[in-house]
Amino acid sequence: MSRRMLRVSKIKNGTVIDHITKGHALDVVKILGIDGHSGKVVTIAMNVPSGKLGVKDIVKIEGRELNPEEVDKIALIAPHATINIIRNYKVTEKQRVKLPSILHGIVKCTKPSCISNSENEPVKPIFYVEKEEPLRLRCHYCGNIIEKGDILEQF
Ligand code: CTP
Ligand code: ZN
Repeated sequence: MSRRMLRVSKIKNGTVIDHITKGHALDVVKILGIDGHSGKVVTIAMNVPSGKLGVKDIVKIEGRELNPEEVDKIALIAPHATINIIRNYKVTEKQRVKLPSILHGIVKCTKPSCISNSENEPVKPIFYVEKEEPLRLRCHYCGNIIEKGDILEQF
């Protein structure tokens, strides 16, 4: 990309979430709990031309490296995303997100009567991924189906 084409600058340290399906950058930001109050620099680019996808969204978070649980959360929302860890301007790690077939403790069941929501029982939620796109998860305990919109409401 030539200098004239540069839209968002490179970052020195942090995480670049690249190849996010267009229209989903704000969902990624939401699921990571980014509300703009941490003082960290966050850049959101939407509908950026991309060879592979036609157009894509990108989120750059300076001064923060995502942990594996956060990477799994992104897979729920943006199953084609690439996570790039940047150190001293270099891409030191590049990882395609991958949705595990079973999710432990990341999302909650939406059914109030589900045992995983009982206050007296220390039961961690477990979900089976039935479908990736559009996302469909099935609760191990009660069989309840939850979808992307339900998940976004939890974050
Ligand atoms: N990036 C950045 N700051 C850096 C280095 C890279 O913001 N110091 C961004 C790039 O703009 C790009 C992403 O991180 O959006 C991945 O960088 P790179 O691996 O250099 O790009 P590509 O080779 O195009 O990546 P891919 O093969 O995953 O498409
Ligand atoms: Zn349930």
